[in-house]
Amino acid sequence: MKKEILDLMNCPQCGAVLLEKSSESLACSKCDYTARMVQGIPLFTDVPATIEPWEKVERGPNKGTAWRKSNWKFLNGFVKALPSNAKILDVGAGHGDFADIFEGRQYYSLDIVPYPEVDLVADLGEVNPFKDSAFDVVVLMNVLEHVYECRSLLKSIARIVAPGGSVVITVPFLLKVHQAPFDFARYTPYFIEKMAADAGLQVESLQGYYDTQYLLNESLGNAWQYSIKTQPKSQQFVARSLVFIIQRLFNWFGKVTRKGFIDATQSQPNPAPVGYLVVLRKKA
Ligand SMILES: C[S@@+](CC[C@H](N)C(=O)[O-])C[C@H]1O[C@@H](n2cnc3c(N)ncnc32)[C@H](O)[C@@H]1O
Ligand SMILES: [Zn+2]
Repeated sequence: MKKEILDLMNCPQCGAVLLEKSSESLACSKCDYTARMVQGIPLFTDVPATIEPWEKVERGPNKGTAWRKSNWKFLNGFVKALPSNAKILDVGAGHGDFADIFEGRQYYSLDIVPYPEVDLVADLGEVNPFKDSAFDVVVLMNVLEHVYECRSLLKSIARIVAPGGSVVITVPFLLKVHQAPFDFARYTPYFIEKMAADAGLQVESLQGYYDTQYLLNESLGNAWQYSIKTQPKSQQFVARSLVFIIQRLFNWFGKVTRKGFIDATQSQPNPAPVGYLVVLRKKA
């Protein structure tokens, strides 16, 4: 466990100092609160029994889907502009697919699953062990859609962001159900704005990632993987041949239309992005 992280925390029950009692637990210096440690990772909340852990995949600026590449570009741009002493918390970091972006920074990560890469396990909507204003930036990459009580989570996060600090969010809009059954919602910009205001945060930027070719190809991929299988064998052959031809057409279509791009939602008449890329700010 990173020692400095204890300085950012206090007892979630009484607010007193938390101490590393042994390699097996953290304990409050005042009350009876303890947090169990599993392989050096403190657990502030129970790990949900039904969650399907994510497979570790190799990630980087040019890896994964077009949506993930857009996430990388957005997050990297944001982090580059931060002062070198900014304290950053990555909530729902999973295996740390974006961790390279934070190299050399005061970066901490958590998840509700004890992935070996995270510093602690917590659902901050339930138990938040961090001090008020502990972080300059809290990051939520592709997490809010998996959180049933997303409004309580954002309120709890707003408390631990320093005045003038920010919450950086990416959240899919047109993306298939994933990590079932832990996939609860898709949000419109209006929901995001209202949820932010309720948590005492202001929308600094709200952009969409627009990519018609990607969406068409995703639909075709879903048809290939799921729908075609249910057809009689003779039709499957025709369907797969058609998919092959249509895919070629889509690739050509991608060459004659605007490729995937990030843009402010206000400047876009297109209301169908793959997802939203958001920066919320806490008043200084
Ligand atoms: C789709 S994955 C995204 C992982 C990573 N942020 C990324 O974009 O590569 C969603 C992650 O959020 C975690 N998660 C779900 N609910 C959470 C919560 N309430 N607090 C923290 N993490 C949560 C899941 O365990 C999972 O690792
Ligand atoms: Zn205590």
